[in-house]
Amino acid sequence: MNQIAVFASGNGSNFQSLIDAEKRGELQAQVKLLVTDRPDSYVVFRAKREGIPVFAFRPKEFENKSQYEKVIIQKLQEFQIDFIVLAGYMRIVGKDLLEAYPNRIINLHPSLLPAFPGKNAIEQAYLYGVKWTGVTVHFVDAGIDTGPILLQEVVEIRDEDTIETLEERIHQVEHQLLVKAVNLVFDPSYQFIERAK
Ligand code: GAR
Repeated sequence: MNQIAVFASGNGSNFQSLIDAEKRGELQAQVKLLVTDRPDSYVVFRAKREGIPVFAFRPKEFENKSQYEKVIIQKLQEFQIDFIVLAGYMRIVGKDLLEAYPNRIINLHPSLLPAFPGKNAIEQAYLYGVKWTGVTVHFVDAGIDTGPILLQEVVEIRDEDTIETLEERIHQVEHQLLVKAVNLVFDPSYQFIERAK
């Protein structure tokens, strides 16, 4: 069975949606480990409640990214993780992790990339005044939200929206799309088509 680790830094509603899909028998993978850079975040509480092992670290306690990523890789190997899902992980993945899991890391991002990469993407789109935004799941490369796109879904920004109502609709779409993306990468008949840049 495909064994995944989810990386998250905050609330963890997307981590929860993967766990819930797995419990319903709708996820073609097993969530084996939560990795977090925020030991006090709510996602840690969720993982403990669900009986999922947690590897929590504080980046400040390491000299650099390479040092903590080496420790993460050891943990991933210990848990025989084949694939990594970034679901609200607010750090840039470094060379060590990318080389250990080539084309085996996906990231969830709350905009229609390449528009609004980086932090606060929902707010960026709302304040820019675009009428349509959305959700993207993409493979992770060395850039910031630049890797090959796996799935996208559009979300309309309505005149009456506040950032909060928009955020809520984006999250609803994310919870479905991330499960779909995980199932897609593990579907043996799926062929990823990347366009030449
Ligand atoms: C999600 O909206 C996710 O797309 C975003 O963080 C949120 C985490 O929510 N990720 C990024 O912005 C990454 N650049 P959650 O903790 O409730 O799953």
